[in-house]
Amino acid sequence: MTNSEKSVSYSTNGDGSSSSHQIYNVLLTILEYILIHLKFFYYILEHIFFMIFPREEDVKGEIVLITGAAHGIGKQTALKYASLGATVVCLDINEKLNKETVKEIQSRGGNAHHYVCDVLKRDDIIQVAEKIKNEVGTVSILVNNAGIMPCHSLLQHTDGEIRKMFEINVMAHFWLIQTYLPDMITNNHGHIVALSSCAGLFGLRNLVPYCASKFAVKGLMLSLVEELRHDPRNLNIKFTTIYPYMVDTGLCKRPKIKFPNFMRLVTQEEAAEAIVKAQRRGIEEFAIPNRFLYLHRLSRLFPRRATDVLFDFMEAYVDSDL
Ligand SMILES: NC(=O)c1ccc[n+]([C@@H]2O[C@H](COP(=O)([O-])OP(=O)(O)OC[C@H]3O[C@@H](n4cnc5c(N)ncnc54)[C@H](O)[C@@H]3O)[C@@H](O)[C@H]2O)c1
Repeated sequence: MTNSEKSVSYSTNGDGSSSSHQIYNVLLTILEYILIHLKFFYYILEHIFFMIFPREEDVKGEIVLITGAAHGIGKQTALKYASLGATVVCLDINEKLNKETVKEIQSRGGNAHHYVCDVLKRDDIIQVAEKIKNEVGTVSILVNNAGIMPCHSLLQHTDGEIRKMFEINVMAHFWLIQTYLPDMITNNHGHIVALSSCAGLFGLRNLVPYCASKFAVKGLMLSLVEELRHDPRNLNIKFTTIYPYMVDTGLCKRPKIKFPNFMRLVTQEEAAEAIVKAQRRGIEEFAIPNRFLYLHRLSRLFPRRATDVLFDFMEAYVDSDL
């Protein structure tokens, strides 16, 4: 009974039963209050327990679809999933390199398929999905990885560049999720992984549209979790948002790092390892390295100008590619 319903029942009951109703409702509220506290602390303890003793889901037999699998993080993630016994579906606009990813997986004894797909085009995504369902099966893990990163000041970005970045980095996530989520809901089984970035946690110079697109991915994923968690039929559908720091794929063309020993580029292999680990552990948000997620949360507690001093000291950014 909602609070407004409770108050209606007090006012309509003019006889002696109203006071016993009131006592009943007060007891119910106290019980609810105790339960909320118990649950709150239970979930904190559960979280700490699984941080210390992580449980990893087996991905053998799962069908994992990875966008942007022809190169970089996507390619390494495809290799990693295949090495764990998953069937991997590699999607990319670059047919030649995508075929090479699949060949490499097959030469190592893995199971993989390649499809050309321009994630800019919603129709393309839908048509390819039908083919995949007929030829490979139902996708149970979707890794939304494909992304681009033009890097210069906002006033130097063209409108076409900004639109394209949002089409690939954000809109494609919507179309892919709308395409693959329904089967996950039907089967109450699935996992959606999204590549955001540390640029989706901190605003960075020369990356204004890119940061905005990666913040959007964060918002999309967190609100999707919120939307689905209210229906118990979705209990076994999980979500993981990944925030990598700079990775050595060539996407960051001109990285500038003051303390390379402390803040070196992450290797593609390390990134892939971390993505698969976070997915298998069902971690909702994971930065690579993960200390950046804690740094982000901590930095929100302090005034902007105070944290600027620290970030200016650490100085890690990407120079303009123009
Ligand atoms: N490299 C980094 O430093 C870094 C850091 C944080 C986040 N990320 C994110 O990780 C993801 C992968 O980055 P990466 O460094 O491996 O990039 P990458 O350039 O090495 O690989 C991207 C892949 O996506 C494909 N792709 C691009 N446009 C496409 C389209 N329209 N349709 C289909 N495929 C398309 C490319 O062909 C390529 O194979 C991106 O979302 C990126 O924003 C990268």
